[in-house]
Amino acid sequence: MQDFKQVADILDGKLDETEHPFVKITGWIQQKFDVGGVQFFWIRDGTGVIQVTIHREEVSSVVFQKAEQLTQESSVIVEGIVKQDKRAPGGYELQIQELKVFQIADEWPIHTTNGTDVLMDQRHLWLRSPRQVSILRVRAEVIKAARDYLDGEGFVSVDTPILTPSICEDTTTLFETEYFGRKAYLSQSGQLYNEADIFLFKKVYCYGPTFRAEKSRTRRHLTEFWMLEPEMAFMDHEDCIKVEEGLITSIVKRVLEHRSRELNMLKRDLTPLEKVEPPFPRISYTEAVEKLQKASIKDPKLQINWGDDLGAPHERYISYLFDLPVIVHRYPVRAKAFYMEPDPENPEVVLCNDLLAPEGYGEIIGASERISNYELLEQRLKEFGLPKEEHQWYLDLRRFGTIPHSGFGMGIERVMQWICNLNHIREAIPYPRTIGRLYP
Ligand code: 4AD
Ligand code: MG
Repeated sequence: MQDFKQVADILDGKLDETEHPFVKITGWIQQKFDVGGVQFFWIRDGTGVIQVTIHREEVSSVVFQKAEQLTQESSVIVEGIVKQDKRAPGGYELQIQELKVFQIADEWPIHTTNGTDVLMDQRHLWLRSPRQVSILRVRAEVIKAARDYLDGEGFVSVDTPILTPSICEDTTTLFETEYFGRKAYLSQSGQLYNEADIFLFKKVYCYGPTFRAEKSRTRRHLTEFWMLEPEMAFMDHEDCIKVEEGLITSIVKRVLEHRSRELNMLKRDLTPLEKVEPPFPRISYTEAVEKLQKASIKDPKLQINWGDDLGAPHERYISYLFDLPVIVHRYPVRAKAFYMEPDPENPEVVLCNDLLAPEGYGEIIGASERISNYELLEQRLKEFGLPKEEHQWYLDLRRFGTIPHSGFGMGIERVMQWICNLNHIREAIPYPRTIGRLYP
C-alpha cells in the first residue's frame, strides 16, 4: 500500500504529466456517469475529489467491463495519466489505464430526497457527502486555529476531568451517574479545575467534551458539545474581553485563509466574516433589556424583565443591531452562574459577558471574572443551593494565594454554526447527541 498520490496534490498542479506520467490513487467512487463510450467517475481519496475517465478504446475490455460494475462508494485503486481539463471539477482529470477493485459497494442508502431523521440514522454514511466533509474540514481548522492562538499567547494546555463530584453550571442540566456507590456527574465545564491550574501556569486552557442534559429541542443545543476554556490569573474582566476578541478574530482569519474553498462549497457569504476585527461593540445587559422592552411592543416574543437571562430570540435581536460579534456585559447575579465576581460599581450585576455572533447566531462565548474572596464564594454556594463538601477544594483555591482571575468557554459547535452558516447545530459535530438522538 505505498506509492499512492494524493488528489489534493493533483488539483494543486503538483503532479504534471511530464514528471509523473503515471499516478496511482486510492479512494471511493463518489458519483458516476457514462457519456458515449466514456465512463466518468468522481473519486474521493480523503484529500479531495477528482474526475476520472475511462475511454473504451484506450483500455482493455476487461478493465472497461470492471469499471461498468462499479457502484457509488465502491473502493478502488486506479492508475492513469493526469491531464489538465478545464471542464473537470478542480481543473484536472485522471485518464485511467488500470483499475483494481476492493469492493463493489451495496446500494447506497442515501438520497437527496431523504429527510433529516433518515439522514441522521445514517449519519455514519451521510458524513461522506461533500457538504459534511467540508464542514468537518472547517471544524478541524477552527480547533487548530484556536489552539495555535492560545499556545502562541503563552497558555498551557491542561486537561480536566470528565467525571466530577462538583457542579459548575446549572443544576437542572446535570448528567448524573453512579460512581462506585457515590454520586458523580459528567462535566459541564472544565472551568473549576482550570481555576486550580492557573496557580501553576498563570494562563491555561482545556479543550474537551462537555455535557448538559438539555431537555428542550432547539437548533443550538446539544447534550454533548466541545468547549475550549481559557483561564487567566491576574487578569480582570476587561483583560478577558481582549483575549476573547483576539481568539475569535484569529479563528475567523485562519479559516478564511485556509478553508475558503470549503466555505464557498457551503455557500457561505464571506463578507460578514471578512469584517471581523477588534474591538467588538459592547452593550450592557441593562441597555440590551431596555432595547428589547421597546422592541417587544411590536414583537411580544422579545418581552423580558430585568433579571431574566437572554433567550434565543433576545440574542438574535441584539446581534442584528451590529455587524460584528457583540459583547453583552454585566448580567444580574441570579441570571448567571454562582462563581462570578460582582461589579464593584453595582453589586446587583456581575463582571461577565456573553459574546454573541453576528447574523442572529447568538451566544458563542460565556465569560466572567471569578470571585476571589473565600467568604463571598462560600455565601454564593449557599445562595445557589450547591453542596459545600463537593466544592471545598474549589473554595480552598481562595485560601492559598488568591488573585483576581478571569476566563471563558467557547462552544466549538456554536462557532461552527456561525462560521459555516449552519441552520442547525447537529451538522457542526460528526455524531450529534441531542435529547432525541443517541444512534449511531
Ligand atoms: O455559558 P456557558 O454555560 O459557560 C460555561 O460553561 C463556563 N463555565 C465556561 C467558562 O467560563 N470556562 O457555556 C459556554 C459556551 C456557550 O457560550 C456556548 O457556546 C456553549 O458553551 N454551549 C453549548 N453549545 C452547544 N450546546 C449546548 N447545550 C451548550 N451550552 C453551552
Ligand atoms: Mg452561557
